[in-house]
Amino acid sequence: MALPLTRDHTVGHAEDLPAVTAVLHYLAPMVGRLVSYADDPPDGVPRTNGVFEGREVLVHDARPVARDLSLDREGFALVRHASAVVDFHDEDELRRVYYPEAERLVGQAVGASRVVVFDHTIRRRVWDVEDRTADAPRQPVPRVHNDYTVKSGPQRVRDLMGGEADELLKGRFAIINVWRPIRGPLLDAPLAIADARSVAFRDFVPNDLVFRHRVGETYAVSYNPAHRWYYAPAMQRDEALLIKCYDSVEVGVARFAPHTAFDDPTTPPDAPPRESIELRTLAFFG
Ligand code: OGA
Ligand code: FE
Repeated sequence: MALPLTRDHTVGHAEDLPAVTAVLHYLAPMVGRLVSYADDPPDGVPRTNGVFEGREVLVHDARPVARDLSLDREGFALVRHASAVVDFHDEDELRRVYYPEAERLVGQAVGASRVVVFDHTIRRRVWDVEDRTADAPRQPVPRVHNDYTVKSGPQRVRDLMGGEADELLKGRFAIINVWRPIRGPLLDAPLAIADARSVAFRDFVPNDLVFRHRVGETYAVSYNPAHRWYYAPAMQRDEALLIKCYDSVEVGVARFAPHTAFDDPTTPPDAPPRESIELRTLAFFG
């Protein structure tokens, strides 16, 4: 569903939007393969061999242009979406209520004929705890990344869709995350997302992500002053960010929208710690 690119989109003039100056963490230049461990690394091996360096950027308020954002152009969207979920910590309710809601939401947003939620992650900030620390909740991710790559996007379909995978891989599919606060307004560690059009393919650095039983691949991202960043200040529970993490279409649509948690300089020091939930979905276009 490629959109016509003929309109003069307001979002192209990010300079006019309110913005905060923030430090985002990018992959520093390196030689050799980038490898990170999802679980505890082997003895003597660091969790990642990448070095991440802070860069000051402007992060623009996406709210004034929210109606103009499109998953196929900027690679993300900010939508109002009230969920019927009462307790996001109740796994049964998530599967029974939230998964189908999100499947409908993504289907309508991108015009997919079939959407499959395959994963969810709840993050609750605990100060000075790194993400993926044993016995701690999952943490905000303070590094610019994209969840899937040209290789791992189709691999997810093969891993998850069994005998249907080959047939499904013949058509267009996308991987889209649905991200929302569990408690609003979300002031601590909001999520910044880059306009996919401002990111060059050479900015992406493949990162092996080693799990106990499989190796995934994500993209780390190198700094490029062209990146245009957005966020939704003070997100509420009835708002969601939809983030394109993969698209099988190779030209003319957004394929990857890099994102990262960041410290917003306008966040009051006593803001409640971030609590968010993200779903990962496969969207198939029939
Ligand atoms: C995601 C993601 C990080 C965060 O939803 O894909 O990278 O800090 N989240 O919420
Ligand atoms: Fe991510």
